[in-house]
Amino acid sequence: MRPSILITRATFSDVAAHLQTHFQVDDNPSDTIWPREELIRRLRGKQGVMSTGSERIDAELLDACPQLKAVCNVGVGYNNVDVAACTARGVLLTNTPDVLTETTADFGFALMMATARRITESERFLRNGQWVKTGIHDQFVGPDIHGATLGILGMGRIGQAIARRGAMGFGMRVIYHNRSRLAPELEAKAHASYVDKATLLKEADHLVLVLPYSPSSHHAIGAAELAQMKPGATLTNIARGGIVDDAALAQALREGRIAAAGLDVFEGEPAVHPELLQVPNVVLTPHIGSASIQTRRAMASLTADNLIAALGLGPQAGRPPTPVNPEVLGGR
Ligand code: DGY
Repeated sequence: MRPSILITRATFSDVAAHLQTHFQVDDNPSDTIWPREELIRRLRGKQGVMSTGSERIDAELLDACPQLKAVCNVGVGYNNVDVAACTARGVLLTNTPDVLTETTADFGFALMMATARRITESERFLRNGQWVKTGIHDQFVGPDIHGATLGILGMGRIGQAIARRGAMGFGMRVIYHNRSRLAPELEAKAHASYVDKATLLKEADHLVLVLPYSPSSHHAIGAAELAQMKPGATLTNIARGGIVDDAALAQALREGRIAAAGLDVFEGEPAVHPELLQVPNVVLTPHIGSASIQTRRAMASLTADNLIAALGLGPQAGRPPTPVNPEVLGGR
């Protein structure tokens, strides 16, 4: 009998059809986020799951679904999954790195530019039937991007791709802080200089967050960090909700302690802190950093390849392309 899998959210029909050639598939074409009890009920007896950041995969769920062998997450981030709990139970976790790097970097740059140059704020003004007053010298002015200092917190693949855009496309000085410093050749390719976190906060005109979420990055940017930033600086978060203390950020924006923020991710999303919805100097988008036509397709297709290989089928049987806890494979 073919193994059975669950696809938790809507995916491309050809990807679902491809999976159906290998598996018995239970899917979710209506794309509703299932309540947890329903998720567990559907997952019982399945060997694999194509999951997204909307589902929490933890010890409780894994214990309720002992047949599960592979959790294949659509996305590079996997803070929705308890990796140690998976590994302890011999469950393989995969993610989708690389295929989304450039697209997400494009989006981070776009969000930073929209934030600095007040694109959505001025669009709301225009849609409201208004126009800038003739001769006005300071309406909708914002800080320049070109020639400014770009600060990047978290310097993985996406951070490096943003750094290249800043340095090579916009003549920016690029500084970064990361848990570990990049190798000299990677620093040279990114045109970026390593600084400590205090220097990053103090010197960045535009600070972009690209670090993974973990308990140690929770509220990495809170009231104390915002107070160290330049008054005219912008903050862009395309990483994960919870890295920024959204309440502290809303207050800093309201009080004009930094110029503006661009947020694609939120603490407790899909909920958004109500005060962020009230302040004008913030650009808000619903976690769409990787949402280009080509990249969303590439992510789905890589996830399908991972699932097929993780469950011992297809040309890469037993060798899924992008495992997070490959040590599990040794025990199979
Ligand atoms: C990712 O790839 O991690 C994106 O944020 C989608 O969840």
